[in-house]
Amino acid sequence: MSEGFASVTAPDAVPAGPVRAVAWSDGPVPGVRFLDQTVLPEREEYVVADTVDALVDAIGRLVVRGAPALGATGALGVAVVLLQAEREGWAAGRVGTEIERLRTARPTAVNLAWAVDAAAERVGRGAAAVLSFAHELIAADERANRALSALGADWILARTTRRPLRVLTHCNTGALAATAWGTGLGVARELNDRGLLAEVRVNETRPLLQGTRLTAWELAREGIPHVVQVDGATASAVARGLVDVAIVGADRVAANGDVANKIGTLGVALACRDGGIPFVVAAPWSTVDLATSDGGAIRVEQRADGEVLGFAGRRVAPAGSGADNPAFDVTPARLVDAVVTERGIVEPAAGPAQAAERFAELAP
Ligand code: MRU
Repeated sequence: MSEGFASVTAPDAVPAGPVRAVAWSDGPVPGVRFLDQTVLPEREEYVVADTVDALVDAIGRLVVRGAPALGATGALGVAVVLLQAEREGWAAGRVGTEIERLRTARPTAVNLAWAVDAAAERVGRGAAAVLSFAHELIAADERANRALSALGADWILARTTRRPLRVLTHCNTGALAATAWGTGLGVARELNDRGLLAEVRVNETRPLLQGTRLTAWELAREGIPHVVQVDGATASAVARGLVDVAIVGADRVAANGDVANKIGTLGVALACRDGGIPFVVAAPWSTVDLATSDGGAIRVEQRADGEVLGFAGRRVAPAGSGADNPAFDVTPARLVDAVVTERGIVEPAAGPAQAAERFAELAP
């Protein structure tokens, strides 16, 4: 069992069907149920976070991760705050403090702060109203994932000639990173459903191996052909002509089309530009942050040195070594051929003026 949780749901109590990384659990103490992504693929274990401490711990340790999944967690988490306040009889003012703690548990994925803010607007109407909003948000995210996947597949097919396609991806952008289906991996699934996918080349994604452990797990359970490669093999794979398109996700898309995503994404984009193949970012509109002018204004989470200096829980670097461990990087708009959202597609590499105009057209 993972540490820091009040209860664990037996896997046989989890509804059958597609992977649900984040869901509500009614009891015995109500809370947010996660498929624990720290122990996949070795174990499929569900944990329930029924306190703010447990939620913040789950977000920080990447029990739950990926921008849309963090959004769902944030919205459901506000209901946890209200229920815990009621159970424990919190003093006035503490609800706001705890909501802020949840909102800032990870800084880069805009979905977390966005969803917490939207749910917090409903706090005065009680936990049931917040929960009902969170369920709407989850349903909308799944619809968005499916819609953007179809748009993304169409865009890619119009700009590539080889059939079936060989897709490279970085990190995990599948059902585990969202509420269902997935964004970048959703586009790959869509291509596979259309019979037009040869294979997915999965970057391992150092240091926490979201590619090796999570993306490969999703692809393997669906029988989608894939190979895992070290992140450092990206440039060589593109240069050897083994990739037709790269599809990644985003933690935040700035108003000028700069994209923050898992560390290593910038290297993928540079390799694609050099190799003349499209670099595609697939993300729901909830990941687009028009209030952030450009990538320079995005706060990139810095994580613990030990993630880089060790491997599988064991230190491998010498005692005197330090580390630099940014969890994300920012790919400049000029390298981003498409940002695919459910509302439509922006082509930042076509130039800042066109990108700004298109974002303005698509904005609700
Ligand atoms: O640190 P993580 O695993 O939360 O990073 C996740 C990513 O970088 C994903 O690519 C991004 O959130 C998009 S998920 C659809």
